[in-house]
Amino acid sequence: MSVTHRLTAPAPGWTAATDVVVVGSGVAGLTVALNVRKAGLRAMVVTKAVLDEGSTRWAQGGIAAALGEGDTPEQHLDDTLVAGAGICDEEAVRTLVTEGPDAVRRLIATGALFDRGEDGEILLTREGGHHRRRIAHAGGDATGAEISRALVAAVRTDPGIELIEHALVLDLLTDTEGHAAGLTLHVMGEGQRDGVGAVRARAVVLATGGMGQVFSATTNPAVSTGDGVALALRAGAAVTDLEFVQFHPTPLWVGPDAEGQLPLISEAVRGEGAHLVDADGVRFMVGQHELAELAPRDIVAKAITRRMQEQGADHMFLDGRHFGAEMWEHRFPTILATCRAHGIDPVTAPIPIAPAAHYASGGVRTDPRGRTSVPGLYACGEVACTGVHGANRLASNSLLEGLVFAERIAADLAGRHAAGELPERTVDVAAARAARPVPLPPSEARAEIQRLMSRGAGVLRSAASMADAAAGLALIAEQAHSHVAEEKPADPRVETWEAANLLLVATALVAAAAQREETRGCHWREDFPERDDAHWRRHLITTLAASGDPVSTPEEQ
Ligand code: SIN
Repeated sequence: MSVTHRLTAPAPGWTAATDVVVVGSGVAGLTVALNVRKAGLRAMVVTKAVLDEGSTRWAQGGIAAALGEGDTPEQHLDDTLVAGAGICDEEAVRTLVTEGPDAVRRLIATGALFDRGEDGEILLTREGGHHRRRIAHAGGDATGAEISRALVAAVRTDPGIELIEHALVLDLLTDTEGHAAGLTLHVMGEGQRDGVGAVRARAVVLATGGMGQVFSATTNPAVSTGDGVALALRAGAAVTDLEFVQFHPTPLWVGPDAEGQLPLISEAVRGEGAHLVDADGVRFMVGQHELAELAPRDIVAKAITRRMQEQGADHMFLDGRHFGAEMWEHRFPTILATCRAHGIDPVTAPIPIAPAAHYASGGVRTDPRGRTSVPGLYACGEVACTGVHGANRLASNSLLEGLVFAERIAADLAGRHAAGELPERTVDVAAARAARPVPLPPSEARAEIQRLMSRGAGVLRSAASMADAAAGLALIAEQAHSHVAEEKPADPRVETWEAANLLLVATALVAAAAQREETRGCHWREDFPERDDAHWRRHLITTLAASGDPVSTPEEQ
């Protein structure tokens, strides 16, 4: 199979070659790059901004693994399966929880410094859905930043890893057998490599992170525009579980019209004993779930949304005043500074919070080795759907998933290389040219897509709300087609390519969410409030039709 659609873009003006090209520089991407080097393969890391700009850096709470006394992978498995609401892939979860503890130890050996107690043992906290203290953290609430620092330092010292920063990936290139053979990308710079180019490689790994920017308010950075999922769809890969968007219960509420990346107030703040309270100061999670504020994330986000509706409020509060100044300063220094920068002092006042888009539990479908349905194309981290998260990711499982499955991809590539199954590839230029160019929406479409998605496919969805969103998205696509027909197309540039990616993933997400007529995990339907195992204990697989429209098909039961 070859790439059927491509972004409208100029022909590549420069070329480069490597063995494994990795797109993305979070925990998953950098771990792949470092590990394929051990097999003697060269790696190239392509990243959209600078190396430490992706979602990993923003992860606060930590990384979950059965490292504590009395904890076991089996208990971690149980909590993950419960959070995943019936559609986790149990074998993938077992892989995660059993390989996780050693993967964390290897991360420590690479240089990541986790917080430790006076006895030298790693300090562990709790987060939603975990029945044990299982979350390792660094710098108090700066875990992702520390992991990123350690991996970036290791990558920078390896001359066998080439780095291309400020580069937006465009499309996959394949050879005549339909095997991944590289990719096209646009480098935003004026250096040696500038503008659209092509990288040839023996294999391609997507580690592009999430798609939170498809909504108006999100904890994701501006670079999280679903580029990897959009590329995979255009390349003919299967994508799954897109409807399961996790809304974090407690991003900082910064006003009624907040947009873009919102500051996160980590679940670890609740893990250490902070309470959710409503406008009257009442703890509304007590009695709703045995774990109260530490119920799985979907349950807490729904309870907050319901209470906001009941009280006609646009936010609730997180009260951690009882921690005292010293604990705030030592345990949550980043959050304390962020709140104070917004004029809120958590030492003396409850923190205003409201749910916002946080994590894509679905993504590009992979097998346990990280292989997608396109030969030679791999995916790991948030862009992938390994089956670990099911309908709702358990808190702090994402850094672990990125780490474990990145190691597995590197091991698969190393094995194929050793067996002589990873030859150099020749790009099928004719096939690349034959792919249909996708008309680009104007850059202003980004805000309209976000508005449509937040209104129609946010925390609470219905057939009517999603029909409105789908109609609005279809209109944007139609206008882009009309502008091409009228010979007034939008210029191909980063903003319009991102808008095209957002439009495609938003359309695919709404199509899947409209089809899933039940409430499960973080997919909450006002018109189908119950979980329906008889019909829906299965995945929705999304692919691109010949028309360029995403189509979702329920997996066989
Ligand atoms: C948090 O610290 O609350 C976020 C952790 C996660 O999303 O896993």
